[in-house]
Amino acid sequence: MSDPDSRRRIRSYVLRAGRMTEGQQRALDENWPRWGLEYGNGELDFDAAFGRGGPRVLEVGFGMGRSLLEMAEAAPATNFIGVEVHKPGIGRLLHAIEEHGARNIRIYRHDAVEVLRDCIPDASLDAVHIYFPDPWHKKRHYKRRLIQPPFVALVRSKLKPGGVLHLATDWENYAEQMMEVLSAAGGLSNTSGAGQFAPRPAHRPLTKFEQRGERLGHGVWDLVFTRDV
Ligand SMILES: C[S@@+](CC[C@H](N)C(=O)[O-])C[C@H]1O[C@@H](n2cnc3c(N)ncnc32)[C@H](O)[C@@H]1O
Repeated sequence: MSDPDSRRRIRSYVLRAGRMTEGQQRALDENWPRWGLEYGNGELDFDAAFGRGGPRVLEVGFGMGRSLLEMAEAAPATNFIGVEVHKPGIGRLLHAIEEHGARNIRIYRHDAVEVLRDCIPDASLDAVHIYFPDPWHKKRHYKRRLIQPPFVALVRSKLKPGGVLHLATDWENYAEQMMEVLSAAGGLSNTSGAGQFAPRPAHRPLTKFEQRGERLGHGVWDLVFTRDV
C-alpha cells in the first residue's frame, strides 16, 4: 500500500469530486465485479481476464468512455483495457457496457502509470491509445503532463514489437512536446515520417472533447508511432 515512490510521484491528474448520477453509481455497484480489474491483483493474465485470446489494446484516461466503447464495438475480436481514475466516467462506461452488450472491455480504476508498471506484462500490448490527455496548460504545471520521457519508455516496453502508440491532443504546445518526446525516445518510429503528425485515423472516434475543441477553433494533432523490433 505505502509505496514511498508512488507518494512522491507527481501525478497527471487531480481527483475531482465529480457528482455520480444514480445510474453511474448503480452500474459501479452492480457491474464492477464483472468488468473491473483490480490493481492489487498484480500482473494481468489477459486470456483469463477476457476468457479468450486476441489482440490487446489499452486506453489511458478514457474519460466518459465513449471512444473506448465505440472502438470496442467496431472490433469485437479485440480485447480492450481501459484505465481511468475519474469515478463518474467509470460508472458511465460500466453502464454503457451493459446497455450495449459489449463483452470485450475490462477496466482498471487506478493510476495508469502504476497499472502499466505493475500489471501489464512487457511486450504484451498491440496498441496503446491516449486521447486528449490533460494538457496542464500553465507552464508551472507542465511537469504533470503524462507524455514525458520516463512514461513513454514505460509504454514502449509494454508494446509488442510493431505495436502502436497513438496519441491525440488539441493543444498545439502539448502536440509539439509529444512529438519531441516520442521522436527522442529511441525504439519508436513515426509512421508518418520524422516530425510529421498523422492524418486522423478513421478508427479514432470523434469525442465530445474534440468536438468542443473544433467549435473553439482548436486544431487536433494525432501522433502514431510503432515500437521497433
Ligand atoms: C482531458 S480528459 C480526456 C478524456 C477522454 N480521453 C476524451 O478524449 O474525452 C483526460 C482523462 O485522463 C484521466 N487521467 C489523467 N491521468 C491519468 C492517469 N495517470 N491514470 C488514469 N487516468 C488518467 C483523467 O481522469 C481524465 O478523465
